[in-house]
Amino acid sequence: MAIIGTDIAFAKELLLDDQVIGLPTETVYGLAGNALHEKSITAIFSVKNRPSFDPLIAHVDSLEKAYSIVEEFPLPLQKLATHFWPGPLTLLLPKKSHVPFLLTSGLEKVAVRIPNHPLALDLLRSIDFPLAAPSANPFGYVSPTTAKHVNDQLGGKISYILNGGNCKVGLESTIVSFEDNQVLIHRLGGISVEEIEKIIGPIKRDINESSNPKAPGMLKAHYSPSKKLLIGNIPDLMMAHENRDFGIISFKKPFLSSKPAREFILSATGDLHEAAANLFSALRKMDDLDIDLILTEFVPENGLGLAINDRLKRAAVS
Ligand code: TXA
Ligand code: MG
Repeated sequence: MAIIGTDIAFAKELLLDDQVIGLPTETVYGLAGNALHEKSITAIFSVKNRPSFDPLIAHVDSLEKAYSIVEEFPLPLQKLATHFWPGPLTLLLPKKSHVPFLLTSGLEKVAVRIPNHPLALDLLRSIDFPLAAPSANPFGYVSPTTAKHVNDQLGGKISYILNGGNCKVGLESTIVSFEDNQVLIHRLGGISVEEIEKIIGPIKRDINESSNPKAPGMLKAHYSPSKKLLIGNIPDLMMAHENRDFGIISFKKPFLSSKPAREFILSATGDLHEAAANLFSALRKMDDLDIDLILTEFVPENGLGLAINDRLKRAAVS
């Protein structure tokens, strides 16, 4: 198992040696290594068991460092960066030539973000290279939101996990690009569409629903627990599956008062931020229970609710 701690100097030492570490961010934990070294990028793909066609995000701690790896920074995306960085927003920007194609899976654009987590920012400030960091889960599984989640699955393959507590946002970053004079959103995430549109006006959605996307980014089946997950009206689902061993993830109401251990309520007050922060822990908790089916429901389709429902849909594809 990995060591879990808060030693930034030790984390830095490992990164300078091209090793990969568990990194807390405000969204989910990342599996981090030097974004400019092919050796560490290769290690990330291998630890995650990630196909090489799925590119990685480069994390930096300042706009200056972001500029140092990109050729251009279109004005609308600059506006978004100014508003939301550090924060759960990833921008796709034309890469400089020294950024390895291994990082971008051969694409001309590199994904960049400044995470909003004090430990991640301290570590990034202490080094002079960006950190490549996909979510620290085996490819296709639910993203980790605690150091323990990372250790449970990848602890045998990495030596250190920086412990930054529970991730406050709990959903991955929103991914945005600028193409043909238009801002496009590619992944719903921790910054809502409404928040983005407040800053730069209407944006176009280009969110991949296919299981074989022509551009990498969003596979249809993703974020999946190992148990089958059904989404619908919970009382109806309970009735239809009354002979099965099921657990329930509900938005705000209890349905299983007789077996509270098998139920996870995302937010008793109906708060979408709280629900987002709890979602991935709830999915992992269900996977740990002695059940064979997860019943759940959509949350209201506004603000972070869109991203929560997107993750539920992908988790339901088996
Ligand atoms: O919140 C987050 O974004 C977390 C934390 C650790 O920062 N990271 C994360 O990384 O979710 P990952 O690798 O699990 O998801 C990144 C997504 C992938 O779907 C990838 O295909 C897409 O970003 N992506 C990365 N670079 C891209 C590029 N150049 N063009 C299109 N999509 C890209
Ligand atoms: Mg991921």
